[in-house]
Amino acid sequence: MPTQAVGMIVDAQQAEAVLAAGQADLIALGREALFDPYWPHHAAAALGADPGYQRWPVRHGVWLAKRAPGLARARAEAAAATDHDKETSPQ
Ligand SMILES: Cc1cc2nc3c(=O)[nH]c(=O)nc-3n(C[C@H](O)[C@H](O)[C@H](O)COP(=O)(O)O)c2cc1C
Repeated sequence: MPTQAVGMIVDAQQAEAVLAAGQADLIALGREALFDPYWPHHAAAALGADPGYQRWPVRHGVWLAKRAPGLARARAEAAAATDHDKETSPQ
């Protein structure tokens, strides 16, 4: 009989672990869905399951795909700045 898990499932890795362990066939969300209506899309992104934003509504996905290179660049620059700060900060 198919079963679903519900209750304090809050992030993608946690949900995926429940499914991978065979503890449930389906994940249900209550309050997390109120907090973040795009939770399934964000979870897919966190798991690398939708790199091209193809699961998003087309009108969203087109813009998110255009945003991706700039976002990757900004994150790389922020990480490099953090590394630089660590290397140069006094002990
Ligand atoms: C807005 C909302 C409506 C809900 N309606 C029902 C319902 O009709 N029947 C039910 O069994 N549980 C209902 N629940 C409880 C959820 O199914 C779930 O058991 C509970 O919220 C715990 O999961 P969560 O930590 O993901 O919120 C509802 C929860 C929320 C937030």
